[in-house]
Amino acid sequence: MRFRQRRTRRRHQLQVTHQPIYLSRLSADFSGLRLVQLSDIHHGLYTRLDEVERAVELANRLEPDLVALTGDFVTNSPNYIAPVARALGRLRAGLGCFAVLGNHDHRVGANRVAWALEAHGIEVLRNRHVRLRRNGSSLTVAGVDDFSYGADDLRRALRGAIADTPTILLSHNPALLLQAAACGVDLVLSGHTHGGQVDAPRLRSFIGRRGLQVPLRFRHGWEQSGATQLYISRGIGTVVLPIRLRCPAEIPVLTLQGNGHAT
Ligand SMILES: [Fe+2]
Repeated sequence: MRFRQRRTRRRHQLQVTHQPIYLSRLSADFSGLRLVQLSDIHHGLYTRLDEVERAVELANRLEPDLVALTGDFVTNSPNYIAPVARALGRLRAGLGCFAVLGNHDHRVGANRVAWALEAHGIEVLRNRHVRLRRNGSSLTVAGVDDFSYGADDLRRALRGAIADTPTILLSHNPALLLQAAACGVDLVLSGHTHGGQVDAPRLRSFIGRRGLQVPLRFRHGWEQSGATQLYISRGIGTVVLPIRLRCPAEIPVLTLQGNGHAT
């Protein structure tokens, strides 16, 4: 029993990683903005409600200006939608909490997940964007629906966004990087890969064959295509097996730095 508790604790050990990021088009008004990302919560048998609540508490303690929720709130059962949405509704961020849906949310019921999150004050960006303003400056936060379910429409998500406004794109799946770069997006935030979940090739391929397909190039951390940067979070929950090995759950805190100019 004690062994099991220790294993469970280790699986849900949350690592807060601090990521300073420079965006050349970010104005002085948004410079220093603190963005906290929660991804792949997978509330269900492997990620209990108290573990979700602990992640929310930790995120609030980081005093974010903005929270980005990058999909996979549940795994297989709709029974977990309402509790996870309620827990996430306690997130506090000055400029708001924004979400996109992941493949597991589509599997369970995309509309149900979106409605539950919206009912708790979380803005779900399904191929659309919002423009945040500070003094005279703007920052666009856009979101695409899930790529692996063919629900993504990046052009629609960015339609009407002002070309000279810095843009952060939330996309559950990191495979959209090249498309985002072609559209001039400054920063993409993704999850989906769980960082591979285990740092052991054989076990990773077992998990991959049963439902966690990790693109070869993208596993976790920073990537870049042209001027577009991508950060992939290792996420919080697990799928297939309740195991993380040398790949701890992660809450990234991105501090955005601009060029110091007002726009
Ligand atoms: Fe996931």
